[in-house]
Amino acid sequence: MSDRFATMKQEILDGIEKHAASRAEAFELRKQFLDSKIGKISQMMKEMKNIAPEERAGFGKGVNELKEWAQQRFAELDEKMKARELKMRYEKEKIDVTMPAVEESCGNLHPITQMRNQIIDVFAGMGFEVFENREIENDYYNFTALNTPKDHPARDMQDTFYLSPEFLLATQTSAAQIHTMENKKPPIKILCPGKVFRSDDDATHSPMFHQMEGLVVDEKITLCDLKGMLDVFVQKIYGEGTTTRLRPSYFPFTEPSVEVDVSCFECGGKGCKLCKGTGWIEILGAGIVNKKVLENCGIDSEKYSGLAFGIGLERATMLKYGINNIKLLFESDLRVLKQINDN
Ligand code: DAH
Repeated sequence: MSDRFATMKQEILDGIEKHAASRAEAFELRKQFLDSKIGKISQMMKEMKNIAPEERAGFGKGVNELKEWAQQRFAELDEKMKARELKMRYEKEKIDVTMPAVEESCGNLHPITQMRNQIIDVFAGMGFEVFENREIENDYYNFTALNTPKDHPARDMQDTFYLSPEFLLATQTSAAQIHTMENKKPPIKILCPGKVFRSDDDATHSPMFHQMEGLVVDEKITLCDLKGMLDVFVQKIYGEGTTTRLRPSYFPFTEPSVEVDVSCFECGGKGCKLCKGTGWIEILGAGIVNKKVLENCGIDSEKYSGLAFGIGLERATMLKYGINNIKLLFESDLRVLKQINDN
């Protein structure tokens, strides 16, 4: 009888040695011997009734001892498997804290877009609405309605890309003034960013560039309103303490027309390379809306007056960030673009 017990023990030890490679396998092996229904040791118990009465007590004791012994072996096995699996998990999930982190790079908006957003923020704060400009215009909106008829010499100021005798690529965002005044009654306060196109290409000009048109039409609008708004604008964009200076100029759609300079934010007005020693930097064109333009749009020029300005975004950006070649804004070189991140 004790042979049977010894054989079963050996069977268990062999099983443990050969088949238990994981906790799940160990569990299955345990079932083969210790399961209350199908387990080999439980089956042995059931043989009790066939054993001669005088041997029963010894047999029962032997089976119980075998059962206890097997339970212990399987408990040890389970512990061993648990430890092994934990170790394997640690190995697999090992983190090398000295490893350099994976570099996460976060993009930023293009400098022109940043400048556009900054300017919109400033004027939105003064109550301006924003409308996107059109890229294709007809002759009437781009020139004629802006008091620049066909043979007007001011047409030579802008080298135009014509698409047909009537249609062209917008040379200026000023056409937005006409679209707005045709569709809106005063008071008007709008800002129109847009792409514009001219046959022009050198270190400070690109055939496509961006402008931002501003237009205010209301009763009693004067150059003082223009100066006040532009002073706020330059202070917000170029820093506290900057101011503007208006110089007489000419644009067909404004009368009077002005060229607006900003006090040099590099040298504070003393004179430096950026302002070419003058203390002032030309920044935009502006003026009081020509009465003829108001009338072209059916607005009573006796009752209403307007101011308008046009900002070149590339120029405004180049000045602010010290960029000396406009091409840097069009080449998409990340080494350049990454350096400018204000929003
Ligand atoms: N449209 C002009 C240009 O492209 C800029 C300009 C000047 C716009 C005076 C204006 C203005 O609204 O009043 O050169």
